Amino acid sequence: MYSLPDLEPIRDFDAIAVLTSGGDSPGMNPAVRGVVRAALNSGVQVYGIQKGYSGLVAGDLRVMTSSSVRNIVQRGGTILKSDRCEAFKDPEIRQQAAANLKNAGIGALIVIGGDGSLTGAHLLAEESDIAVIGLPGTIDNDIFGTEDTIGFDTAVNTALDAIDKIRDTASSHERYFLVEVMGRNSGFLATHVGIAAGAEMVIVPEYQVNIEELGRQLCGNRRTGKGSSGIIVVAEGREPGLTYRLAQQLQQQGEDPRVCILGHIQRGGHPSGHDRVLASGLGAMAVSYLLAGYNDIMVGVSEGAILDIPLDSVIRYRKGLDPQLFELALLLHK
Ligand code: F6P
Repeated sequence: MYSLPDLEPIRDFDAIAVLTSGGDSPGMNPAVRGVVRAALNSGVQVYGIQKGYSGLVAGDLRVMTSSSVRNIVQRGGTILKSDRCEAFKDPEIRQQAAANLKNAGIGALIVIGGDGSLTGAHLLAEESDIAVIGLPGTIDNDIFGTEDTIGFDTAVNTALDAIDKIRDTASSHERYFLVEVMGRNSGFLATHVGIAAGAEMVIVPEYQVNIEELGRQLCGNRRTGKGSSGIIVVAEGREPGLTYRLAQQLQQQGEDPRVCILGHIQRGGHPSGHDRVLASGLGAMAVSYLLAGYNDIMVGVSEGAILDIPLDSVIRYRKGLDPQLFELALLLHK
């Protein structure tokens, strides 16, 4: 477990609110539970906002009790529901959202979500007198300022569970399987899955690939006696259809590859033990940070500790894929 900061409570809130936003991730429920239980233990009322920023704009606020979060620590998805709210990019809509919170006597908001959701959180903190704290919740693990995000570990393990099974049939038929994992803009998930699955190749959006050359290289394995079965992990990337084009290339060179798109399976399922502990800790600490007077920050993890990072930096900078880790993913199958 991560070490927790020692925070002195200096601020009072009658009520705070919590919402989950953007693509859901396994562990959002234990994070909501952490927020609710920590707030109630400190004598602060908590509202759960339904369906992310859309619910905030619509004023869909519901009082949470300790029993509202009973029996959810192990459940995937989010009991608060989630969505991607385009309307929240409009400053007038954000003013409406802040007014809804103020009118309900709510002085602070905790937002659990990915980079788009944290951008909304920062803007709301800047433009209103609502104190806002973000928590990194995404299977992509692509949030600047934190080494880990809620849901990443579970998604890695979900993909591994599938790939271990796929490898059996890949090996029986001596085929390549191109397994597409999530990650439109980042290859963290693909790289971790690739290393842990012992993949023959990993393709991520951070590095361009030459499909023809890759096809030749993989087919060359058969000729050099290295065999031509195995797993190629492909991050979905920004360019739709890359996985199928690579399969076609292999086919043209005489291979008989198959494609398996893991898709939203990676977003569901019971959160892993790691994600439950991470999410519970971040949820509870978000409340401590609010009571300690913090605002416009994300609570994340680095070097074994829970810590705060200004939301401004979180949204301004891009978390880069560690090139050495990516190299490792490519190296170990050789
Ligand atoms: O941001 C999380 C994520 O799962 C990405 O990996 C993926 O590209 C995207 O969300 C899919 O979003 P949606 O569920 O809206 O299709």
